[in-house]
Amino acid sequence: MIYDFEEVERVAGQIRAPLKPQVGIITGSGLSGLAREVEEPLVIPYEEIPDFPPATVEGHPGEMFLGYLAGKAVVVMQGRAHFYEGYSLEQITLPVRVMRALGADTLIVTNAAGGLNESFKAGDLMLITDHISLVGMAGHSPLFGPNDGRLGPRFVDMSGAYDKELRKIALEVGHELGLELRQGVYVMVGGPTFETPAEIRFLRLMGADAVGMSTVPEVVVARHGGMRVLGISHISNMAVLTGSRPKGIPSHGDPEGWEGMGHPIKKEEGLHEEVLEAGEKALPKLLALIKGVLGRI
Ligand code: HPA
Repeated sequence: MIYDFEEVERVAGQIRAPLKPQVGIITGSGLSGLAREVEEPLVIPYEEIPDFPPATVEGHPGEMFLGYLAGKAVVVMQGRAHFYEGYSLEQITLPVRVMRALGADTLIVTNAAGGLNESFKAGDLMLITDHISLVGMAGHSPLFGPNDGRLGPRFVDMSGAYDKELRKIALEVGHELGLELRQGVYVMVGGPTFETPAEIRFLRLMGADAVGMSTVPEVVVARHGGMRVLGISHISNMAVLTGSRPKGIPSHGDPEGWEGMGHPIKKEEGLHEEVLEAGEKALPKLLALIKGVLGRI
């Protein structure tokens, strides 16, 4: 264990928070604009916080915002570090530990994800109902190693990890805003490669609705620390299969051959650019949803 209770307190102690945040928010790919809405913000670059892993990926600027959103005291992590950048899961989840130490008891975590559920479309927002951690099942957890009982219990119950009450509130807010919210299971893969067509078939078969490369370790640590979690995926692109499909699976263009693409990339610059651009477009919806939820908790 790198970060026991004292270490987390040491890092949190370096942040001269002008307020006690109630809610922590993490912005996903293309969604960092959320942080711009924070009122009276104190902005701290991750480089100035000891041990914080700098976010190196485009679309993840790497600043902490402390301030108010919809009247609630919040701490917003604008951008996150990922496992595939070479950090340990413990490192990439330190920000969640620190948010908890600053006083946040609720985590709203957002991400960009590929849609697996065929009834979804790019641009949708999906409330995460549950997750499958392929990374965790392969033997990687931010909780590996000795457990510091002051941070949380040795064994963590992950049933109901995504708070039912918060989801209910989000659905009500979505309804009032006229947003058609999806709900589903998020599967975490290690990345940084996007999925092959065979992997997409596999992920669908296992019951996942959306796929991404983040979020799960943060949720594991939040639950370890006793935080309530609301998870929202922005479906930035659809994972589609082309080729000679079994009956009932709709055609996505190419009538023959199974060798079709997993992710048809529309932008010349590549899928990551597409993810970022889609995020910018979805931001107003996501922001309205989050503000509405904050107003009711
Ligand atoms: N796969 C994995 N991660 C992602 C995707 C995807 O299609 N889109 C955004 N993040």
